[in-house]
Formats: sequence, C-alpha cells, structure tokens
Amino acid sequence: MDPRLVRLAEHTIGFMPPNEGLVLYRAALQAGPLGALLEIGSYCGKSAVYLGAGAKEAGTILFSVDHHRGSEEQQPGQEYFDQRVVDPTTGRVDTLLLFRRTIDAAGLEDTVVPIVGRSEIVARRWTTPVALVFIDGGHSEESVRSDFEGWAPHVVRGGLLVFHDIYPDPSKGGQAPYRVYSEALAGGDFEVALAEGSLRVLKRVGDPLRDFVPTRQGLAAE
Ligand SMILES: C[S@@+](CC[C@H](N)C(=O)[O-])C[C@H]1O[C@@H](n2cnc3c(N)ncnc32)[C@H](O)[C@@H]1O
Repeated sequence: MDPRLVRLAEHTIGFMPPNEGLVLYRAALQAGPLGALLEIGSYCGKSAVYLGAGAKEAGTILFSVDHHRGSEEQQPGQEYFDQRVVDPTTGRVDTLLLFRRTIDAAGLEDTVVPIVGRSEIVARRWTTPVALVFIDGGHSEESVRSDFEGWAPHVVRGGLLVFHDIYPDPSKGGQAPYRVYSEALAGGDFEVALAEGSLRVLKRVGDPLRDFVPTRQGLAAE
C-alpha cells in the first residue's frame, strides 16, 4: 500500500490499528475484482483509507455507510467519546466533515462513496451485490445483528464478510460482535479466511463464477 496513505490512515482519528488496516487493504484488493465493496462505520475515514486504497487498485469502489452521529459508546460521557468530533454549533457528534477531509486528502473522492444514513434503513432498500462487507458500525448486539442480517445476504459467492472487534476472551472486549460472528460461522454460508488482531475475514462459500453461468448459457443459446 502507498506509504503516504498508510501514514494518513495512522494520523486519522479512529479505531483501526495499522496491522488490521493492512489486512483490510489486502482483503479489498482480493475481493475488488468481484464487485463493489461496502463498509458500515465510516467515522473519520480511517478504515475507508485502507479499504479505499485496495478498491482503487482493484478498479472498484467502496460505499461507506454511516449516520455520522456516533455509536452509543461514542456519546458524551461514554467510554469512546472524543470531544474533537463534536460539531460546536449543534453540540452533537458529527464526523461527516472529518470523513470528507480524510477521503479528499487520500485522493479517494472518486473511489469512496459516502452514504449518510442509518445502516438498517439503507440495507432495507439495497439491491446491488457486493464483493466485501466490513461490519464496524454500532457495537451493541442489536446493531451488529442488524448489520449482519441486513448486509451479509448481499455478499457474492467467493466474496468477503469482515467483522471488527472480535474478542473470544470476554476480559479483552465486548461480546456482541463475537456472538454474531459465531452465528455467522455456524450458519454455514461463510468460512474463516483470515484472523488478524480483532479482525476476522470470512469468505462466502461457493464459486463466484457460478453467478455468471446463466448469462454464459444465455449467450451460448443466442
Ligand atoms: C467504531 S466507529 C467506526 C470506526 C471506523 N471504521 C474506523 O476505522 O475508525 C462506528 C461508527 O458507526 C456509526 N454507526 C453506529 N451505528 C450506526 C447505524 N445504525 N447506522 C450507520 N452508522 C452507524 C457511528 O456513527 C460511528 O461512526
């Protein structure tokens, strides 16, 4: 990955250590030829720089979904509150401007497409198959489950489903993402491809080319 972008990501406010970010970059490179990528949880653009860099090199784009109002744990008085992301006019968390600055500084404005809204509302109307979904939005059980149920069905065969903050040991971190991740694995549609830190990359079972067979048969019949 371009060292300038690695440095930019490292200096961006957010929650993605470099070792996990570089795995996101490689996952984006791998999945990119299968279609567009999508993340839930843009925040200030840290993960979007890694995923966007891979998307650009692979010739695809990244949709980045966030309402930009912060998760439950990022509100004033909560563990991950950061005064720097508060809009001084409204007094509310608002990460949209910081996100745009990051993507602009990365030269990724034509690759990273922000979708500003609640993930569950966007997912309900979404119809485009995606090659990679990265789940890093709200971390309550309800939020992670809703993101998994709303977005995982859109991942193509051979595509990747990536979870953040997976802690099998409860003393290391919250258990909601881990529970949903375990259910995703038990469902049989996904298998583990890679683990790095708290990042888990799952791959949708099946051959991606199977999705194209009807088209090829159609062409052969013409
Ligand atoms: C942990 S932060 C994402 C960190 C980011 N991926 C990074 O690399 O720094 C979670 C983000 O998810 C967003 N979020 C939480 N619940 C959401 C929901 N239901 N719909 C859309 N965005 C949501 C929050 O606004 C917040 O910006």
